[in-house]
Amino acid sequence: MDFNPVEIIKKKRDGGTLTEEEIRFFISSFLTGQIPEYQMSALLMAIHFNGLNDDETLSFVRSYVQSGKTVDLSFLNKPKIDKHSTGGVGDKTSLILAPLLACFDVVVPMMSGRGLGHTGGTLDKLESITGFRIDLSVTEFVDILKKLNVCMIGQTDDLAPADKKIYALRDVTATVDDIGLITASILSKKIAEGAEGIVYDVKMGSGANLPDTEKSRELAYKLLETTRKFGKEACALLTDMNEPLGYAIGNWLEVEECISIMDPSAKKSHLSEDLIQITLTLGGAMLMLAKKCEGIQEGFQMCEKKLFGGECFAKFVNLVELQGGNVELMIHQETYPAASSRSEIRAFDDGFISLLDALAFGTAAVNLGSGRMKADDKIDNSAGILLSKKVGDRVNKGETICELFAETENRLRTAESILNKGIGISKTGSQLKDKIIQVID
Ligand code: URA
Repeated sequence: MDFNPVEIIKKKRDGGTLTEEEIRFFISSFLTGQIPEYQMSALLMAIHFNGLNDDETLSFVRSYVQSGKTVDLSFLNKPKIDKHSTGGVGDKTSLILAPLLACFDVVVPMMSGRGLGHTGGTLDKLESITGFRIDLSVTEFVDILKKLNVCMIGQTDDLAPADKKIYALRDVTATVDDIGLITASILSKKIAEGAEGIVYDVKMGSGANLPDTEKSRELAYKLLETTRKFGKEACALLTDMNEPLGYAIGNWLEVEECISIMDPSAKKSHLSEDLIQITLTLGGAMLMLAKKCEGIQEGFQMCEKKLFGGECFAKFVNLVELQGGNVELMIHQETYPAASSRSEIRAFDDGFISLLDALAFGTAAVNLGSGRMKADDKIDNSAGILLSKKVGDRVNKGETICELFAETENRLRTAESILNKGIGISKTGSQLKDKIIQVID
């Protein structure tokens, strides 16, 4: 049925509720080009001001999914579980979790995104492994899943294409941070990739994409409720993103940090406790949804064994190989091209680290070249930041807090000036807060 786009925009603008047919019409006509960008932008802004109720959100999800293909993984007689993070700084959990869960005969069909603003993206991290292909066809994706139980790709043109086109428009019309639109966007891709259960890692704090903590909590509940209405299992973790996760920020640096955790023979300069805790808790939740254990704690311990026993690393190396990446780099990271310029930030006083502001570190890393300021910016895979200290650590005046890596001295100076306001030292240490704020299952 045909509708008048102006009437639909007007209805939403005036606080009305759109029907499934109206939403499907608007989205499918936008995808075919019959509805222009200015009308879709107007509708998105009307939604931004008036929100989407539960039924409208469901209609958005269904319309996004129906706009493309759905991967049929039903012939794989195993649970299919994925994880989604709302985005953070130094958040590299997917690189460990995907191969880790695959070791338990859980299928992980992971479709990830690129860096957005100050937050990093799994695809950019994977692509820093020379040769690694994330642009696989659906056939290649399914083939690798059959062989390994895991495959990690970017959003293809076949899967939820309406979300892809509308997301690009939301990005430039200041309509990204709407709870209903975010929920529909995330969930439609998970349904299209064939996931049966999803664990959400919703970040809270200065480095999160939604810095308002109450909005993050609202998003977690909306994701859970909407996912369950599609008959899928779901669980959400609210996790702290006031400080970068782990020690590395920047694409290849983050891959190296993950290898140092996964490879039992690797030299460990630091134990990334916060990263390991969040990764194993998410892993435990994924195992719980896959019905491989009773609860998250039991799953946590099961994951711990495979992670530190080397099985997870072997799976990761297999994945790199099947997706075209240079496997030699997994063993010989010293052969990776180093950044040409390096500097250090040193402690200006004795005391305890009281602040490593995730937003400042994410923004500094982008300025060093590890992220994009414009959509077509080229990424410098060797650029980034390596922390030597974490919040709560004791520090002496003059000791290194972090090292910065970039192609030019100019980039280093810009990042240093951003970080000046993002690092704090106090005379007394304070009680460290748990990185897992809440588990909603
Ligand atoms: N990630 C997505 O995939 N979609 C959103 O809308 C926000 C984050």
